[in-house]
Amino acid sequence: SQEKIKKLIDLRTEAKLGGGQKRVDGQHAKGKMTARERIEALLDEGSFEEFDMFVTHRCTNFGMQKKKFMGDGVVTGHGTIDGRVVYVFSKDFTVLGGSLSETMAMKICKVMDMAMKVGAPIIGINDSGGARIQEGVTALAGYAEIFQRNIEASGVVPQISAIFGPCAGGDVYSPALTDFIMMTEQNSYMFVTGPKVVKTVTGEDITVEDLGGAHVHASKSGVSHFELENEEEGLLLIRKLLSYMPQNNLEEAPIVSTGDPIDRMDDVLNTIIPDNPNMPYDMKEVIHTLADDGEFLEVHRNYAKNILVGFVRMGGQSVGVVANQPSFLAGVLDCDASRKAARFVRFCDAFNIPLLTLVDVPGFLPGSGQEYAGIITHGAKLMFAYGEATVPKITVTLRKSYGGAHDVMSCKQLKSDLNYAWPSAEIAVMGAKGAIEVLEGRAMSKIEDPEERKKYAAEKENEYTEKFSNPYNAAAHGYIDDVIEPRNSRFRIIRGFQSLQTKKTSLPPKKHGNIPL
Ligand code: COA
Repeated sequence: SQEKIKKLIDLRTEAKLGGGQKRVDGQHAKGKMTARERIEALLDEGSFEEFDMFVTHRCTNFGMQKKKFMGDGVVTGHGTIDGRVVYVFSKDFTVLGGSLSETMAMKICKVMDMAMKVGAPIIGINDSGGARIQEGVTALAGYAEIFQRNIEASGVVPQISAIFGPCAGGDVYSPALTDFIMMTEQNSYMFVTGPKVVKTVTGEDITVEDLGGAHVHASKSGVSHFELENEEEGLLLIRKLLSYMPQNNLEEAPIVSTGDPIDRMDDVLNTIIPDNPNMPYDMKEVIHTLADDGEFLEVHRNYAKNILVGFVRMGGQSVGVVANQPSFLAGVLDCDASRKAARFVRFCDAFNIPLLTLVDVPGFLPGSGQEYAGIITHGAKLMFAYGEATVPKITVTLRKSYGGAHDVMSCKQLKSDLNYAWPSAEIAVMGAKGAIEVLEGRAMSKIEDPEERKKYAAEKENEYTEKFSNPYNAAAHGYIDDVIEPRNSRFRIIRGFQSLQTKKTSLPPKKHGNIPL
């Protein structure tokens, strides 16, 4: 039996080398970790339990029977992060370029099924040449088996995708179906078709980087939520991200008390809004000031910067923040910002993470560009997401909240639970200048002297500002529950969320809604 044990140890040693030392060296030479090194760095020390180390592919085309590697091109199993169970699959580029075979898909599906059975997050680390060409349709079927599981797991357990190498063709759609995607700057790319095919079909000359690099997807397409300097940063980020989430949709996110007093007053908030309503300020500063220990894990930092989304803790409780950013495009809502925020709101709602909305929005971005891009549909997404969300929702209006954008940004009638406003809030159909142009246009056109006309307009604008540029009209209707002193905001928000902890509401029974996609 000693011999049998030795055989096991030898087999394990062989499996752990993946595609062999030479290819492992090649992986390192590119500045990449191996599939197992990534898992080791990701999970709590010594917690990894590997499955299916002895699985090999079954393909016999193109002499493949002679090209077998133990474990095939993916390392799978489970372990813990901060003591909580997670399931992981990590593609092994040293084995046939991590290309997906039927048996690899089987291995990946096994961990996904296990994760669903026990209600634990799924983490996928991608580094692969796509479908294994020698296998043909069985590889494609394997992808679809994975996709179907991604879809079924959506909203049940958190799913996070790291892209640490190539991710092309069919490979992109599993990450695309998950909750969060992160990409490394140097070695990763994602595209449906690579530069060569692009050149052949459309004649466009484009580099890998410009077509599907980390920066492009984090800033232009929004496909990726995080741009990473290196893999280590990404693996730490996965740990941090999960700390804000529950294990599954039936649980709550863990409470992480930092000792930051809930009644900490922040005088800086009393002076952060500039006297001139057209002057910007940095909404991030407000978020950092409100959050426990000033910590804000921003999602989609470089995409649609006119809206901010991300996680904070308030009084130890995980909270999803959505906030207009006045220092970028005046915080206007456009197609990208609406999509970005809608997706985040739905993630939080699916996983019982309360929502804090900070409002300073001048309206929707006007123009044919936005109309042709479908701002109506995209704006409706955000509206739908807010109206559908049943988690505790608190809205604070800091300054502008105009027109349709006021309604979209978690107003009272979209079933927001608590709506506060600062004294600087302006809740109205539109700003003074626009309003007077509409209301007084005819009267003004009759005034011939330009100076007189200007004076008349200024008077009317003043009158309008007096009447509408404040939170008290909305408060008089009960649409604003209270007008609060800015420096008390942290306390009022935390106490609000505490009072909402036992909130129970549900939507009418239906198969699912039809969010305007
Ligand atoms: N099927 C089978 N084997 C594949 C593969 C695939 N889709 N992609 C890569 N491989 C193999 C290579 O044959 C090579 O095998 P070897 O180590 O035995 O020589 C190994 O993986 C590494 O690939 P290589 O091309 O040497 O690596 P690279 O870093 O230079 O390039 C890619 C990586 C992904 C750009 C390149 O391999 C590629 O273009 N692959 C095909 C991508 C594709 O179109 N896939 C189908 C889309 S669904």
